[in-house]
Amino acid sequence: MEKPEENMGTELLALVRSLKVQIQSDIDLGKSPSYLCMRGEIPMDNSIDVDHSPVESKMLPRKSLSLEEVKKELGDCQRCPLGKLRTNLVFGEGNPKSGLVFVGEAPGGDEDIQGRPFVGRAGQLLTKIIEAMGLTRKDVYICNILKCRPPGNRNPKPEEINACEPFLIKQLKVINPQVICALGTFAAHTLLKTDVPITLLRGKFHAYHGIQLMPTYHPAYLLRNPGAKKQVWEDVQKIMTVLSPQT
Ligand code: URA
Repeated sequence: MEKPEENMGTELLALVRSLKVQIQSDIDLGKSPSYLCMRGEIPMDNSIDVDHSPVESKMLPRKSLSLEEVKKELGDCQRCPLGKLRTNLVFGEGNPKSGLVFVGEAPGGDEDIQGRPFVGRAGQLLTKIIEAMGLTRKDVYICNILKCRPPGNRNPKPEEINACEPFLIKQLKVINPQVICALGTFAAHTLLKTDVPITLLRGKFHAYHGIQLMPTYHPAYLLRNPGAKKQVWEDVQKIMTVLSPQT
């Protein structure tokens, strides 16, 4: 059993990591982290880009590419071994001009068969969440970190993410949404380049290249833990307060 002092150490580490992410978010969002009352360098690890240039300079530059062109470039992708195992590549779907993009982990069995994101049980719950926000699936854009199903729905491997992430980044550049909602630990960790627990990341906006990113629990987690729906509802309400009415 973990000793109480070891437990405290783990909690302290998670808190420090969470604080680092929050400070970086505040800097990226142009808020002054005056609560630090600190001169000089803010010590952070290399995974977080600490520069104090205006927020605009770190935005994903809007490209005149279309999603169709990104899809064409992706082609019959065989950049990682998942290409050989898939039934269908799941590119993403929805409104390419939406102010809101949901990013999940990777296609599951139903998604692999249909070639569409979030169409299984977790997807049906995501659809309900979107509708509870007063929107439809056609109003938002839905995609994943990976475009092909990992066998047995195992966690994506780093080399698979490295091969796939550039295309997600291109999609996000084209859409340039007001808000990205990262669904679950995996999407939040991959996009924010952190390993802070989702319990600490969720419920707060973080900066993703000048775009506000809200991490929340994955709908598949909600199927197993319906009690967490309340927190997801709080998180999506925060998203609704920043979305323009035309979204
Ligand atoms: N889970 C995900 O993360 N993405 C999907 O598309 C379906 C289930």
